[in-house]
Amino acid sequence: MKDFKLEVADIIAAQVPDLSLEEIISLIEIPPNKDMGDYAFPCFKLAKVFRKAPNMIANELCEKMEKTDLIQKVETAAAYINFFVDKSSLAKSVVSEVLDKKDDYGKANIGEGKKVIVEFSSPNIAKPFHIGHIRSTVIGNSLYKAYKALGFDTVRINHLGDYGTQFGKLIVAFKKWGDAEEVKQAPIKTLLKLYVQFHDEAEKDPSMDEDARMWFKKLEDGEEEAVRLWTWFREVSLEEFNRVYDMLGVEFDSYAGESFYSDKMPRMIDIMNERGLLKESKGANIVDLEEYNMPPALITKSDGSTLYLTRDIAAATYRKETYDFYKNIYVVGSQQILHFNQWMKVVELMGFDWAKDCVHVPFGMVSLEEGTMSTRKGRVVFLEDVLNKAVDATKEIIKNQKKNIDIENIDTVAKQIGVGAVVFQELSNNRIKDYEFSWDRTLDFQGETGPYVQYTHTRACSVLRKANEEVSADVDFSVLSDDDSVNVIKEIGNFPKAIQDVIKNNEPHIIARYVVDLAQAFNKFYHDNAIIVEDEKVRKARLALVLATKQTIKNALSLLGVEAPERM
Ligand code: ARG
Repeated sequence: MKDFKLEVADIIAAQVPDLSLEEIISLIEIPPNKDMGDYAFPCFKLAKVFRKAPNMIANELCEKMEKTDLIQKVETAAAYINFFVDKSSLAKSVVSEVLDKKDDYGKANIGEGKKVIVEFSSPNIAKPFHIGHIRSTVIGNSLYKAYKALGFDTVRINHLGDYGTQFGKLIVAFKKWGDAEEVKQAPIKTLLKLYVQFHDEAEKDPSMDEDARMWFKKLEDGEEEAVRLWTWFREVSLEEFNRVYDMLGVEFDSYAGESFYSDKMPRMIDIMNERGLLKESKGANIVDLEEYNMPPALITKSDGSTLYLTRDIAAATYRKETYDFYKNIYVVGSQQILHFNQWMKVVELMGFDWAKDCVHVPFGMVSLEEGTMSTRKGRVVFLEDVLNKAVDATKEIIKNQKKNIDIENIDTVAKQIGVGAVVFQELSNNRIKDYEFSWDRTLDFQGETGPYVQYTHTRACSVLRKANEEVSADVDFSVLSDDDSVNVIKEIGNFPKAIQDVIKNNEPHIIARYVVDLAQAFNKFYHDNAIIVEDEKVRKARLALVLATKQTIKNALSLLGVEAPERM
């Protein structure tokens, strides 16, 4: 698309050589109402350069400014210069581009040749994949899609929590009380139960902890039985996680979890020793971070075993050596901010300048509104149950709304909407904000929700089906100069920028916000304008706009990992 803002910036730059194009672009504003034009340039900053009052500067500059095909009118209002775009040219450039690029509309190749790792989801083996993990999964998946759309070379890593002393406990518990059949039936629920039972019993009988340590040692030493059990726990857990990933349409390029790094730790410790970073403290090895106002990083325990933090150091080093990343991103909850600051500092102290390319993208916590799910006594909520419940509730809503729906399709659509609603809800706030999960809000077909956006998409689909004619960009764009149309067109035109803003802030919420704005603009247009009218010129132009909207909503939803059904 011809970038209108850039066009405005060029016009200004021709008269204001003292500011760089970038500075000019950053000063350009979108005025609050249309009488003030489509773009505005404030002249306050120029007062120093020109040594004149901003109002005078605006007037003088305005007179000299050249109009173009795209910029039809230039006016001043006090210290602002206001630019009015030519509405037909705007419509033509935006709509033609969308219809031409289709699924690729919004994509760019600004990331060419740059490798970005997005680590996300990373649940713990034998522990529930709960509602808290969904945030990492959904935010990470969407972030990955934004980087991918912008041409970065992406790698999705699931850093499974599949190592640590807890596996010794699990082996002991399974050998004592476990039933293989039960584990096969409901792996995570059963393993979790065993884990809890271990803790209850170990309180009474401390020798169990000793056993657990011994079994973890056997695991580390590669002893057959320990490895076999651990491998099995990992496998059955992954099968369960994969069911959730399938529902969400999420995939990974690597499942290299914590265990993958167990043999890569000694080298890390050597480097730390060479740099004189390690200190002994009660038999353990630490890196003192007092100078950086952080508690010490614990590297090895007194029995020599390594920790979560040490494994992160080994993992980052491995990733640099394997992928030579441009950015190495971690989508992990805000509770772990200190953890990430600590290990990244240690990596820096180890002399690795790429430490600065490791980015923790934290997010806030999810709480469940009272009575949402049986969370009594802190019982965990399983993500799979949440998704299933959303799908069931959607099915009920659809059934209540329509009489004759074809039953075959209802399952597919209910899944698209139910899962989409949960995913969209996760992205409808700035990621750092804690939020309360609410069913009513999630499944609301009117509010700023996934179902609302999906419904808008099906509405556009339905108009196009009814029109039943070929739609192209070969239309009279002057038809689309009214306010309703222009608002939709501007929103559509903002899409490429929205994707770029996502990666600037690692904030996929921007696309969720964006697509709600687009849907609202479209619904206003749809409500106030007849589309399938007799007048061919009007009809063809409006249909082109409907098609461009439908395509852009679909592309935006796909960046969020939400499907866009054609009917619902
Ligand atoms: N498994 C961890 C948890 O559930 C998250 C792992 C985060 N990633 C990392 N590289 N530390 O809390």
